Amino acid sequence: MFPRTIVLNRLLSPSNLEDPLLQGQRATRMRRMEATEVATPQTTDLTHVMELTLNVNGSAHRCVLDTRTTLLDALREHLHLTGTKKGCNFGECGACTVHLDGQRVNACMVLAAQADGREVTTIEGLSQGETLHPMQQAFIDSDAFQCGFCTPGQVMSAVCCVREGHTQSDADIREWMSGNLCRCSSYPQIVEAVKAGASAMKGRR
Ligand code: FES
Ligand code: FES
Repeated sequence: MFPRTIVLNRLLSPSNLEDPLLQGQRATRMRRMEATEVATPQTTDLTHVMELTLNVNGSAHRCVLDTRTTLLDALREHLHLTGTKKGCNFGECGACTVHLDGQRVNACMVLAAQADGREVTTIEGLSQGETLHPMQQAFIDSDAFQCGFCTPGQVMSAVCCVREGHTQSDADIREWMSGNLCRCSSYPQIVEAVKAGASAMKGRR
C-alpha cells in the first residue's frame, strides 16, 4: 500500500506514463470501470434483452432483463429483495452472498441469466414465517454484528459453511468464512455465532 501523497504526486507528474505503480493503479481502475459497466448497463437496446425465470425463495418470477444484469441487481432492483446487500460489487466482500441451487455464491459475480430456472435463496427466504433460521438466531444471540450491513451475507455463508462441514475448529470457520468481510470487525462474535448455529442446525439441512 502506498501513501496517498506519493500516488497523487506521481499522478501529477507529466512523465508518469511508465510509472509501474501508476500502471498498476490504472489497470485496477480500468478493470473496475469495465466491471461497473457490465454490472449496471444503461442500454435500452432490445438486442440485449432476454426473458427468464428466477425461482427465488420458492416463488417463480418471470422477468425481462438486460442480459448483462447481475443476479444481485435483479434481486434488489427488479424483485425488490433488498436484504441481499451490495458492498463492493466486485466479488471481494461477500455482502451479496445468496444460495444458488444450495451453493453459496456472490450474487454480484453471477449474471441473472445464469440463474435462469435455478433455485435462488436469499436472506428473506431463510426463516420459516416468523421463526428465524437457527443461524439467524445464533447471530442475534452471539451479538455477532454492529452496523449489520454484512450480516445477511455472513448468515447465508455460515449456513453453507455448516452444510459443507467446515466448522470443525475456530481456524476452520475463519478460513471458510474469510470471503465475508466485516468492516465493524465483529469476527470473534461471528465465529461464536457460526459454532452455535452449527450446533443448532444438527439434524437439519
Ligand atoms: Fe458482491 Fe461485495 S457486493 S462480493
Ligand atoms: Fe458492520 Fe459487519 S457488522 S460490517
